[in-house]
Amino acid sequence: MNKKDLFILAKEAMKNSNAPYSNYNVGAVLLTKNGNIYKGCNVENASYSVTCCAERTALFSAVASGEKEFESICIVGGKNSDITDYAMPCGICRQALAEFCDADFKVYVGISENDIKEFTLGELLPYSFNKSKLGD
Ligand code: THU
Repeated sequence: MNKKDLFILAKEAMKNSNAPYSNYNVGAVLLTKNGNIYKGCNVENASYSVTCCAERTALFSAVASGEKEFESICIVGGKNSDITDYAMPCGICRQALAEFCDADFKVYVGISENDIKEFTLGELLPYSFNKSKLGD
């Protein structure tokens, strides 16, 4: 599964986005180390802070299915599903991913199949607070 495949799946996931308040639709696809795929979309709520981002929807779905080892995520998003810029993951999603993913976990953000930027989680969340700080 390469980054173009992931981009196509992330666009598919964006179709399920529930974003009646912001109209900013997001899709994410998480790839596990053993090759499984979990999709997520943003799910907004009339009580705005209840909203869950696409990345965490995918992550929590994967964890709920027993997955804990992840290779990469691909994220797409845009106002009214129009992808004109890179959909960078918010700080909360970076922290949520850091619970399960190492610094070399890949984060892909794409505008088209031929325009996909690649970061590592370590680049996006340096000096993270994580379970190693909590001792035994
Ligand atoms: N959103 C995501 O799904 N992922 C992010 O990393 C940033 C923001 C969603 C949340 C909300 O539904 C909409 O985008 C506007 O903030």
